[in-house]
Amino acid sequence: MNDKELVAFEAAKLAKSGMVIGLGTGSTANYFIEHLAKRQADEGLKISTVASSTISAMKAKSCGLKVVSIAQLKRIDLYVDGADEITHNLSLLKGRGQDLVMEKLLAKAADQFIVVADKSKLVSRIGEKFIIPIEVIPSAWQMVKHQLEKHGAQGDIRLNAGKDNVAISAHGSYVLDMQFPANIYDEALNTLLNNTPGIVEHGVFYGIASQVLIADNGNIEVMSA
Ligand code: A5P
Repeated sequence: MNDKELVAFEAAKLAKSGMVIGLGTGSTANYFIEHLAKRQADEGLKISTVASSTISAMKAKSCGLKVVSIAQLKRIDLYVDGADEITHNLSLLKGRGQDLVMEKLLAKAADQFIVVADKSKLVSRIGEKFIIPIEVIPSAWQMVKHQLEKHGAQGDIRLNAGKDNVAISAHGSYVLDMQFPANIYDEALNTLLNNTPGIVEHGVFYGIASQVLIADNGNIEVMSA
C-alpha cells in the first residue's frame, strides 16, 4: 500500500453500521471509497454515503456503495477527504478540483471530519505551495478581485482547460485563483474571505477538521484538533 492508500485504509476503519458517510474528492478519497466498499462487502456494514462530487458519486456507485442526495440530509456522521495543504493547527487548503462548495458543506455537517493525506501536504502556511481557489458569483468576479487586491492579493480568474473560456466550478461559480501576502495567515485569510461579498465559498478550511491522518513512508501520524 502506498501512503495515500494507507491513511484511507485507516480512516475506513472508522465506519460503523448505520452511519451516513461523506465521500471526498481526489486520489486519497478514492482509496477511502474502495476500502469502505470492501468493508461493506466483507463485513456487511449497512451504510449510506453522500458524495462531494459527481466523480466520487460515480466511483462509489461503481464500487457498490449506496449514494444518497445531499438534499435529503441535515447532518452526516463522518466525512473523509484529502487536502492540498495542511498546517500543524489543522487548517486546510482544498478545492483544487473545483468541488469545494460541496466539500465544505459536508465537512461542516459531519460529526467527525477526518483528513487523509501523505506528508507532502504539510505546510507552515496556507497558500505556501498553492494558490487559494475562491468561488465567486459570476457577475461579481471583478468586484471581488478588486476587493482582494486591496489586501495585497494577486491573481486572476481561472480559465478552462482549453484556455478559450472561463472555468465553471461544479457549483456553477467562476473561480478566482489568488495569492496573498505571506504575512496573512489562515485565521485572517478565512475572515477576509468570509466577509467579502460575492464570494460563494473558498478553499481555506479553518477550524473544521477533527483529525488529520498523515502517512510518511508507511507510518501514520494522527494530528487532533
Ligand atoms: C479536491 O477538491 C481537493 O480538495 C482534494 O481533497 C485534494 O486535491 C486532494 O487530492 P489528492 O488526494 O489526489 O492528493
